Amino acid sequence: MSSKCQIISLPKIADPRGNLSIIEELKQIPFEIKRTYWIYDVPGGVERGGHAYKQNEEFIVALSGSFDVCLDDGFEKQVFSLNRSYMGLYVPKGIWRVMNNFSTNSLALIVSSTDYDAQDYIMAYDEFLQYAKEHSDCL
Ligand code: TYD
Repeated sequence: MSSKCQIISLPKIADPRGNLSIIEELKQIPFEIKRTYWIYDVPGGVERGGHAYKQNEEFIVALSGSFDVCLDDGFEKQVFSLNRSYMGLYVPKGIWRVMNNFSTNSLALIVSSTDYDAQDYIMAYDEFLQYAKEHSDCL
């Protein structure tokens, strides 16, 4: 698995009034933030994702509950279980990702490096495998 795919610990300001964590561009995460979205109300057993991006990088945090993020660099696969609101997963460009095993009331925050662009998606797995092979030197 690409060593660029990694869990990043975020600062956690512990306080009897409640904890606080922080994501800042180019500090905790290695890109400038262009977009933030979140996935919620996921029905049981559903899978999200199932695509790769050519340029977009992202950072995924389980703000609430838990889910798995399955990453695949075209050569190896690894499952990352997210269940802490002070830990996130950095996903570089060119990685196939699937999200599943969402717990009830889970909330997935996704911070992205690019604007939404449907053209940036690789939606077919065989196309992704070909892309990963051709770009293995720069991914
Ligand atoms: P998609 O990226 O496929 O979600 P996931 O990877 O979680 O399964 O997006 C689902 C739909 O939402 C798709 O029709 C595109 C739309 N969408 C936007 O319009 N803007 C966005 O920033 C994102 C992430 C998705």
